[in-house]
Amino acid sequence: MSLLGALLLLALAGSASAWHHDGAVGVGAGAAAAGFGRVAGGERRYRDLAQRRLESVRSSFGARRDLATSSAAARVYHVTDYGADPTGAADATDAINKAIADAFRPPSNATMTGGIPDLGGAEIHLDGGTYLIKGPLTLPASGGGNFKIHSGSLRASDDFPTDRYLIELMATSSTRSFDYEFATLRDLFLDCNQRGGGVAVANSLRVGVDNCYVAHFATDGVAVRGGHETFIRNTFLGQHMTAGKDPGERSFTGRASGSTATTTRSPTGANAITGVHCYNKAAGFGGVGIYLKVPGNTQTWITNCYMDYTGIVAEDPVLLHVSGSFFLGDANVVFKAVNGVAKAVQVVGNIFNGRDKGVDIVQLDGKFGTVEQVYVQQNGAMGMTVKSTAARASADGNGTSWTVDFAPVLLFPDRIGHVQYSLVTGDVFPSHTLQNVSGNQVVVATDKAVSATVHVLVDQNSD
Ligand SMILES: *[C@@H]1O[C@H](CO)[C@@H](O)[C@H](O)[C@H]1NC(C)=O
Ligand SMILES: *[C@@H]1O[C@H](CO)[C@@H](O)[C@H](O)[C@H]1NC(C)=O
Ligand SMILES: *[C@@H]1O[C@H](CO)[C@@H](O)[C@H](O)[C@H]1NC(C)=O
Repeated sequence: MSLLGALLLLALAGSASAWHHDGAVGVGAGAAAAGFGRVAGGERRYRDLAQRRLESVRSSFGARRDLATSSAAARVYHVTDYGADPTGAADATDAINKAIADAFRPPSNATMTGGIPDLGGAEIHLDGGTYLIKGPLTLPASGGGNFKIHSGSLRASDDFPTDRYLIELMATSSTRSFDYEFATLRDLFLDCNQRGGGVAVANSLRVGVDNCYVAHFATDGVAVRGGHETFIRNTFLGQHMTAGKDPGERSFTGRASGSTATTTRSPTGANAITGVHCYNKAAGFGGVGIYLKVPGNTQTWITNCYMDYTGIVAEDPVLLHVSGSFFLGDANVVFKAVNGVAKAVQVVGNIFNGRDKGVDIVQLDGKFGTVEQVYVQQNGAMGMTVKSTAARASADGNGTSWTVDFAPVLLFPDRIGHVQYSLVTGDVFPSHTLQNVSGNQVVVATDKAVSATVHVLVDQNSD
């Protein structure tokens, strides 16, 4: 199946409660749009800025951006043209939402998937400014595809609603299955001011969050629910901004990103998380970097990420791949049992660096009854305990019984699916047998006392 053909179910970290406000989203958006026209000061500022831009077009004839702006057909919406204050002093919510509303006026009748209006590559350009916003930038419920929001900073005001996100791709009361497609959020600094979250993406297709820095979120850095193919890449997510000595870094409450299943959706899913740096030190102080709340149908691959003191939690991982990532500060991977199923899981080729506290690189939370095709292997660790689903070891001695204890290294307790052993005795030929494999210990016995070395390979999968 092509990548685009797969349904993406990357979504919300944490609790379902973060989504309780779903029903209020449309109301908030409507209020913001309606409020704009009444801001007389904003209109004057808009006229002034428009005048200045016109002068700038004249004086810098040929500059690409200004030419684009001066063309009636251009689809670049500069938020400063709408009166947004790029110094971050005055509230810019209404102005930016007005720019978004204009960008969402479709230039043609062309549509994308399921009738989503094609916005023709519209850009909502933040003009390199910093904007104070008192409410979320909520994309119009009319939906839209093929657009970008880029190049600037957003900062939540002190009264920003704590249950919302700075940028929300969430349309309520929509009859479509999907509302936004090929939306790109790029080169943005989102400062949530310890209120609410950074970006929420719901029921959207092919959304890219690229080269963003989401800081000071109290709920989620990036929350995704439903939809297909959400790519979060080359992005920094951190509740506290620190180079390592922030006194507030222990009092985190948020999660960088996470995922939840929407049971109304197709049972297929596909989430890629790559090149993400999670660094709120949550693992050291009890929290989570990436939470995959799609038990039994995870369908997520996490590659090339830097889990900086923040771990990964996956509920009943099924079809999960974690590789090529670096875990620092005792950050690890936790499989959390819901129905106790772990299947088609690969945690391979990662490196872990801990603080000699005996933390396991992969850890179980709860009991797993079904373990099939689970490969936790070839990870490297310093200062942490390597756990694996396959192991090999030897025992030597003189006698009739050899015990090889795999309990310290095997991930699942009391589970050995396959054993292979060889008994090396030189020129003696005793009868021998595999006597016991309980408690992750392998016992090999001979019928007479011999001096021997026993080599054993075990695997925990039951397939
Ligand atoms: C869009 O469709 C409407 C209704 O069919 C039609 O009247 C209008 O001319 C179309 N607009 C463009 C830009 O094609
Ligand atoms: C092994 O044990 C037996 C009986 O205790 C003894 O006769 C034999 O010498 C031992 N062999 C070695 C290599 O220690
Ligand atoms: C295997 O070892 C366990 C633990 O020592 C023991 O309870 C069990 O009876 C043994 N099984 C057999 C078949 O010897």
